[in-house]
Amino acid sequence: MTKTTNQQTEPAPAHVAIIMDGNGRWAKQRGLNRSAGHVEGVNTVRRITEAASKAGVKYLTLYAFSTENWNRPAEEVDALMHLIVLAIERETPDLIRNNVRLTMIGDFERMPREAYDRLKQCMADTGHCTGLVLCLALSYSSRWEITEACRRIAEAAARGDIDPEAITPETISGNLTTAAMPDPDLLIRTGGDMRVSNFLLWQIAYAEIYVTPVFWPDFTEEMFMKAINEYKSRERRFGLTSEQITNQ
Ligand code: FPP
Repeated sequence: MTKTTNQQTEPAPAHVAIIMDGNGRWAKQRGLNRSAGHVEGVNTVRRITEAASKAGVKYLTLYAFSTENWNRPAEEVDALMHLIVLAIERETPDLIRNNVRLTMIGDFERMPREAYDRLKQCMADTGHCTGLVLCLALSYSSRWEITEACRRIAEAAARGDIDPEAITPETISGNLTTAAMPDPDLLIRTGGDMRVSNFLLWQIAYAEIYVTPVFWPDFTEEMFMKAINEYKSRERRFGLTSEQITNQ
């Protein structure tokens, strides 16, 4: 449902999460190999990080590499890991200049040690920045994350540190990799597929979803702002009625 809004005065979503899809198809359309799509996708990451910062978004979470992506051809996995590490290292001075703090969520035990250490260094280098938080979901899947949270909570219960009766949704949220961030308000997916692909399943319970057929390398700042403005025009009801929301 939409509402009548003045998009200038409506607040931007605090947290935007993006499934950056379509790099492979973008490359195929041009007769290039898939990695060329990922290379072009890095330029979009830079563009959209700047756009999010400008729009007043506080957290931007990008699905850069899923747990399932480890099963792609080894050559593509290696090229993608290499590209991500190089791109982040190259962009770190700009991230600092733009006051962007880098963070990561995912199963880092599966990542090559050197790649992880280099990304950790970039996180440390931007640790003092107080503007946009750029969160890379790397080697991430929601089912992995929820399983880990359950394991940790069960272990705490077995030790007697937590009463099973006292477990609340906040206990679960607090044990996820995103514990330090608010839940996403807006989930954007490029590439046109209507699915959530094991991404932040718990956290997107009340997120507004925006899907565009545009492939990630072609996604522009204007298209990002269109998604933000569409978000601003939606009425978020969190399970309540429209009247209840209006009278709040
Ligand atoms: C999905 O497209 C995209 C990925 C698996 C990787 C996304 C990674 C980047 C854009 C690079 C990220 C870089 C940084 C610095 C964070 P796909 O290959 O599944 O496309 P397809 O659906 O068309 O095959």
